[in-house]
Amino acid sequence: MIRGAWYAVTQRDNLTTKPMKVTIHGQDYVLYRDEKGMVCAGDAYCPHRGCDLSLGTVEGAELICPFHGWRFDRDGRCTRVPANRGVWDVPKNAARATYEACEKAEWVWLYTAPKRVDMDASTEPDLFPELCSDNWTRTPFRATWHAHFVRVVESVLDVSHLPFVHPQTTGAGVNPEVDGPEYALTSNRILIHPKPFAPVHPMEPVEAVETEDERTEIELRAPNLWIIRTPMGDGNAMCTFLTFTPCETQTTEIFGAVARNFDMDSPLLDEFHLSHTRFVMGQDQAIIESIRPVAPPYDLHREAHVRSDGPTVHYRAMMRTWLEEESLR
Ligand code: FES
Ligand SMILES: [Fe+2]
Repeated sequence: MIRGAWYAVTQRDNLTTKPMKVTIHGQDYVLYRDEKGMVCAGDAYCPHRGCDLSLGTVEGAELICPFHGWRFDRDGRCTRVPANRGVWDVPKNAARATYEACEKAEWVWLYTAPKRVDMDASTEPDLFPELCSDNWTRTPFRATWHAHFVRVVESVLDVSHLPFVHPQTTGAGVNPEVDGPEYALTSNRILIHPKPFAPVHPMEPVEAVETEDERTEIELRAPNLWIIRTPMGDGNAMCTFLTFTPCETQTTEIFGAVARNFDMDSPLLDEFHLSHTRFVMGQDQAIIESIRPVAPPYDLHREAHVRSDGPTVHYRAMMRTWLEEESLR
């Protein structure tokens, strides 16, 4: 499990002073806003008798356990044990682990490694510019797939499936017998030009316009930030963004947004792009949920690979290295 990463947990509007429980890599966390609106995150269970703190309440900056009313500040320190009648001898092990959380673009993000004292205050997810600029309009969405996180991420790096899984849309009219795709790697990024596996007109009637400088491209920032950029000519473009949160071994939450930098005020275009994306993702979901073994083997000899699997093989190797490095820290 990769703990040192930012995972989206909900859309910003959904997080209030009512505590919310989320599960990442099988571990439960509780998130809430304090009364100033700041996002707080920590272990979901009370260090006293293990009560679920998402059933609790927030007062000021404190989270109050519903069982015996112990209070915890945003750093996880227990500040009060009511049954001690005001005697401030809080047990030493009464603190909860807390975690970094922030709001960026449309989502609340959680960093699942324990809080680091040396963490730079500006540390936050390294999102794509299209998600943070006022020149883009964005429509967020969410989906749950019953598949392993790495299998799900690999599916969006795999372009040779397009003519088979999406014959009416992203793979329409594509000859599957081609070489490619073209891709480039840096330490934690993969950049793919999906042609010739994808047509230049993926979303009729909105037509993509590829030129020498503006080509449809997929970018992955490992481990879990993905975008596809489709140029529309004259600097116009449409994007679909996805980020993946590994909840349990076989449950991955997907938070996404469709975005464009033209015709910003067109609910019809928003709806068109969103329903197209949901349709395509629904086709992928049925395939990816069927994969066995559920978790991808890190021993690459246990599956057969060909040249067009280059991006997914590199992603899997990247994840294996990342896991090894984390486990040695
Ligand atoms: S279980 Fe939380 S205060 Fe007792
Ligand atoms: Fe697909």
